[in-house]
Amino acid sequence: MGNLFVSKHPLVAHKLSIMRDKNTSNDVFRAMLYEISSLMCYEVTRDLLTDDYELETPLQRTIGKKLADKIVVVPILRAGLGMIDGFLKLIPNISVGHIGLYRDHETHLPIKYYCNLPRHAPKSEIIVVDPMLATGGSAADAIDMLKSEGCERIRFLCLVSAPEGIELLQKRHPDVDIYTCALDEKLNENAYILPGLGDAGDRIFGTD
Ligand code: PRP
Ligand code: URA
Repeated sequence: MGNLFVSKHPLVAHKLSIMRDKNTSNDVFRAMLYEISSLMCYEVTRDLLTDDYELETPLQRTIGKKLADKIVVVPILRAGLGMIDGFLKLIPNISVGHIGLYRDHETHLPIKYYCNLPRHAPKSEIIVVDPMLATGGSAADAIDMLKSEGCERIRFLCLVSAPEGIELLQKRHPDVDIYTCALDEKLNENAYILPGLGDAGDRIFGTD
C-alpha cells in the first residue's frame, strides 16, 4: 500500500481555507493555488534521491548534492494546470507532461482526450497533480495511462481529497504515494467533495 501524506502545515491550511470560501475571487483562488503548490512541492519531493559531486567554496573543496533523477510533473487537465507554476518556481528545470481527462456529468466517469509526455518520462520521477481527488477515477485512469507509457515511479498530489477517492486510488495503484492538503468528509450525490471547494477548473478559469 502506498503512503498517504495529509499536510498539517498551518500555511497550507490557511491558504486552502481562503480557496474554499465561495466569496474568494478567481484571481485570489489562482494565487492561493500557486502558493500551496509550491509549499506542497517541497513536501512531495522530500525523499527524492540526490547524487554527490565535488565543488569548491571560496574556502575549500567540499561535496555538493544534486537531484539524481529527472522530474516530470503531469497536470490532469484542466484544473491541474493551476499547480504547475508553483513547481516551476522551485524546480525550474522540470519537464511538464499533460493528461487530458474530464468527468462525464451523468456517470461521473473520466473521459480521456489527451496524453503528451516527454520521451524521458519512463526513466523519471513522475508527480501527477490535480487539485481534486473525488471518486478517484480521473487520478487512477491518468496513472493507468502513465504506466501504459512505461512510467514506474509515480506519486500523486492533490489539494482536497474524499475518502472514496483515496480508497479507489490505493486499491488500483497501491505503489503510488498520495499527498493531499486535506482529507474531507465525503462526496455528495453529484460526486462533488464536501465541504470541498466547488469546481476547481471553473474557479481557476472563471468558467461555470
Ligand atoms: C475535476 C478535477 C479532477 C476530477 C476529480 O476535473 O480537476 O480531474 O474532476 O474527480 P474524480 O476524482 O471523481 O475523477 P473535471 O472533470 O471537472 O474537469 P476540468 O478540470 O476540465 O474542469
Ligand atoms: N471536481 C471538482 O472540481 N470538484 C469536486 O468537488 C469534485 C470533482
